[in-house]
Amino acid sequence: MENTDIRKAEIASYVKVEGVSAEEIASYIVIPPDTAMGDYALPCFRFAKILRKPPVAIAEELARAIKGGENPFASVEAVNGYLNFKFDRTAEAGRVLKEIAEKGSDYGASNEGAGKTVCIDYSSINIAKPFHIGHLSSTVIGAALYRMYKKLGYNAVGINHLGDWGTQFGKLIVAYKKWSDEIDLEKEGVMGLTKIYVKFHAEAEEHPELEDEARAWFKKIEDGDKEALKLYELFKEITLNEVGKVYTRLGIAFDSYNGEAFYNDKMTPVLDALEAKNLITVSDGAKIVDLNEYGMSPCLLVKADGATLYATRDLAAAFYRKQTYDFYKCLYVVAYQQNLHFKQFFKVIELMGESWYKDLVHVPFGMVSLEDGTMSTRKGKVVWLKDVLDKSVEKSLKIISEKSAGLKNKADVAEKVGIGAVVFFALTNNRIKDITFSYDKVLNFDGETGPYVQYTNARCMSVLRKAGAVDLVTPFASEELEGLNGKEGEELVSLIGRFSSVISDAIAKYEPSIVTRYLIELARSFNRYYLENRILNAEEKYRRARIALVNAVHVVLEEGMRLIGVRAPEEM
Ligand code: ARG
Repeated sequence: MENTDIRKAEIASYVKVEGVSAEEIASYIVIPPDTAMGDYALPCFRFAKILRKPPVAIAEELARAIKGGENPFASVEAVNGYLNFKFDRTAEAGRVLKEIAEKGSDYGASNEGAGKTVCIDYSSINIAKPFHIGHLSSTVIGAALYRMYKKLGYNAVGINHLGDWGTQFGKLIVAYKKWSDEIDLEKEGVMGLTKIYVKFHAEAEEHPELEDEARAWFKKIEDGDKEALKLYELFKEITLNEVGKVYTRLGIAFDSYNGEAFYNDKMTPVLDALEAKNLITVSDGAKIVDLNEYGMSPCLLVKADGATLYATRDLAAAFYRKQTYDFYKCLYVVAYQQNLHFKQFFKVIELMGESWYKDLVHVPFGMVSLEDGTMSTRKGKVVWLKDVLDKSVEKSLKIISEKSAGLKNKADVAEKVGIGAVVFFALTNNRIKDITFSYDKVLNFDGETGPYVQYTNARCMSVLRKAGAVDLVTPFASEELEGLNGKEGEELVSLIGRFSSVISDAIAKYEPSIVTRYLIELARSFNRYYLENRILNAEEKYRRARIALVNAVHVVLEEGMRLIGVRAPEEM
């Protein structure tokens, strides 16, 4: 069944009918009752209306077009308004194995993105605030898209748009000056800062004058006061140092850490341009862009006291990125709670007459909550991402020690499995869905999980180790490739052949889960194959091709895991 759908999608990708999507075409494809006619058939009367032509003529034209280009079919024929397809399985298998032998982990790469720059704003944490599980999705979705774009030849720019500006820094300075002796900053880091920040709010309820002090300190930061800046930098350093460790464990790096503060001196030109275009309305002393006409609340840009806002900085950042990177697209991987914010500021850029407004893309995602309901930041029940990773690694170690007592480097494997499980989980479902995290679920070695895929890859690697030195480079004769015939083998070959188009699909939809689900599918398919076919002790004439197939599965699993940010232990 799954196999069939893959074939249909593959065929559909070669049939171009204007105004009809590949998915729709795939849904029309049928399996002919008489296999002599073909493996698959596409009834062309479906397109008669839209193309205003008789089905017979459409089928003939489509057949000509497909035959005129490179294609994986043994034959394509137009018969009575049907387009009949036959696959040459051995040729397809030969092509896939040859390509993987030649390219290794470069397999699946393309240059579809040559000359195009994509900015990806992701993770974008806040200084002196907890790096909690809520940041997991932005961080791993953004990083996965970043790697996928690069794989397809795009120039990707990863930007951590730090939340490093705002009145909260004034409050933090007051809190720090008053209560720094209550925390061990060295040991507690951001957690310590959060503690005194929470204390500030509690105290300020009874002593509102604290708020005035905080405002005064924030003003000092703005004015470049030495002491104020020193503390501000200290908070920033502590935070970046701490999140840096998490990024390292996740295998993530950024090309730019230009955050909100970076735009302090870059907002005026944008505000001036808005004034010049008569887009600013003054309302109660505040500067806004009225978006009533578009069914949105106004975009607030400058408060009555002259303070700029999150949106003002985002506007300036968009212009800066356009000028600096001349992006083809600029993505914002940010939770759906900010849908309105992005709609508003994209609209403002459109109203300014900048045609590139349509290249700005908000990539929203749902919430992650824990099984026991802990999540809420406000009530102080924050779940720190670091703790989730630690606990997952700890549990992995336990499982691994039970399953494979003799394994070397258990701690290292547990780190890869524990973290991989969390990342894989966050990228398994459609990103817009709210998800509930549970250690048991993500660490289930038999489920749709990271450990399952990692385990399957380790199984492949074990087969390859046992096989010893095998020549995978010399082209395969068709007699050898017949060793891959049969339902399971064909399904595997077909899946492997689709790798590049799966990545392409994932970035087109900004949906890394397409790759994650593909990996689950591939791992399952391999395990079925493994159950049904002899490999190491296969008939001699088939052995080499089967080992090459195992190698191909391993290459694609490992590379696919790399793309989503999951490391692959050699043994587990
Ligand atoms: N720091 C923000 C937050 O945690 C996210 C920033 C997203 N990026 C942006 N350019 N607005 O909510």
